[in-house]
Amino acid sequence: LKLSEIREFGPRVPIRYFCTLTMNSPKRYLITAALPYANGLKHVGHLAGAYIPSDIYARYLRAQGRDVVFVCGSDEHGTAIPIQARKEGTTAQAIIDKYHEAMRQDFADLSIEFDIYHRTSDPLHHETASAFFSQLEKAGELETKETEQYFDPEANTFLADRYIKGTCPTCQSNRAFGDQCESCGRSLSPEELINPLSTLSGATPIRKKTTHWYLPLGKHEAFLREWILEKHKQDWRPTVVGQCKGWIEGGLQSRAVTRDLDWGVKVPLPQAEGKVLYVWFDAPIGYISATKAWAIENGKDWEPYWKDGETKLVHFIGKDITYFHTLFWPAMLHFSGRKTPNAVHVHGFLTVSGEKMSKSRGTGLDPLKYLKLGMNPDWLRYYIAAKLNGRNEDVDFNAEDFMARVNSDLVGKFVNIASRTAGFINKRFAGELGTVGAEDQALLEQLKTALTPVAAMYESLDYARALREIMTQTDRVNEYVAHHKPWELAKQPDANERLQAVCTTSIEAFRLLSIALKPVMPALTAGIEAFLQVRPFVFS
Ligand code: 2FM
Ligand code: ZN
Repeated sequence: LKLSEIREFGPRVPIRYFCTLTMNSPKRYLITAALPYANGLKHVGHLAGAYIPSDIYARYLRAQGRDVVFVCGSDEHGTAIPIQARKEGTTAQAIIDKYHEAMRQDFADLSIEFDIYHRTSDPLHHETASAFFSQLEKAGELETKETEQYFDPEANTFLADRYIKGTCPTCQSNRAFGDQCESCGRSLSPEELINPLSTLSGATPIRKKTTHWYLPLGKHEAFLREWILEKHKQDWRPTVVGQCKGWIEGGLQSRAVTRDLDWGVKVPLPQAEGKVLYVWFDAPIGYISATKAWAIENGKDWEPYWKDGETKLVHFIGKDITYFHTLFWPAMLHFSGRKTPNAVHVHGFLTVSGEKMSKSRGTGLDPLKYLKLGMNPDWLRYYIAAKLNGRNEDVDFNAEDFMARVNSDLVGKFVNIASRTAGFINKRFAGELGTVGAEDQALLEQLKTALTPVAAMYESLDYARALREIMTQTDRVNEYVAHHKPWELAKQPDANERLQAVCTTSIEAFRLLSIALKPVMPALTAGIEAFLQVRPFVFS
């Protein structure tokens, strides 16, 4: 897997690139990747779901010179954090500090390059989320309701939904919590659970009165219906539209946006002592606060990214949080008079040899472990991207298949082009490229034509197809090298000029292929840019 073979390659490569400008592109892009909970490394399963797909997309757009801001950050609220703190015998603050840093590092190790990796414990986020709530509340867009909620008589505290477990009324699984069933993915309220139990004490919870603020989704059913089932019917995955349709038709309940909990963004009302915003209310607002923090750090204006109709707002999420991004969050944005998302890209999970990442942790197969051993993240990115076709299917990581794929495609085919030709340019021609003949030129022209549609494949998130096309072209270039046999030419005293032309053509072809691979393999291609001493590759 070493690049050392092509490291020897010398300077003076002509700068040329193929043009793939897309017409009618938006003025700017705000791309988000789901904010992972700062309570562990659960997000590994989401590498294929949210992070690698969004990073490739952002890199592709940046390489085209588009105006892109790509945000993410740690989701540091919700009951998952105090639950993890209890498990680890420490404080919630210690948990978020530890995992925020660990996750930031994991993303960097994977070359996932956010413009900002923010965190929801930041005061700027608390302010932003508070103001969002106040605005909805003042505009009369929230309802209050006094209800009876589950209270743990032993722990003497109201029980957040996540602290209650029981049996799912839909699939009968006992892996259901008060907010969602882990088995069938259905979103739940605690009252729907059969045989509820407190996870704090194991006690059967009792009902006690409390007041909360609700987002009346049902009141805006007409908007949601038209927005999803009419406006986005064409551009969302049919499975996602189908799921939304099911939720809408099943009846949209009002959702509480506050909780009795002491960890989170305080509800900004005097009568709401001891209450915080529901984590699914504050987390997506984290996309906005991250953009603000990015703007502050970079001397930019955040507002056009969230307010201008010419901005394309694109969310990348794993399939487990579809409901919140296709219904709940768009409703929050719409009711508060904000711009709604232009795209919600839902992907499946990364499984390891067919198992969910969380289960197989510790078995030694975790792809992140390879990274910790110093593996180039590009190999993993390539392997995953080659399986991403824009549909929300799971992507399986299999260690043997991974090795085979990297060795055959990237080493055996792609790097091979340079390793079979760059040495000659260096040793025989002092790093000077030569002039190419008509036949060589034809190969390069054909290559540019074949690679041009790759841009549209990136744009439509069909990375599998883009990489297949690039590999098909890689095969053609290898055929060209095999046909002209530079190693034979090198032995013929009168074939010097031809040797230089064949190697020059191969290196130029290698450069063109590298441009096309750049969004998927940033480290490898940055290395190639440096070895070839060319300007950073661009797509347009
Ligand atoms: O499922 C999760 O990991 C959530 N923390 C995702 C939040 S995405 C967004 F809304 F911030
Ligand atoms: Zn279920």
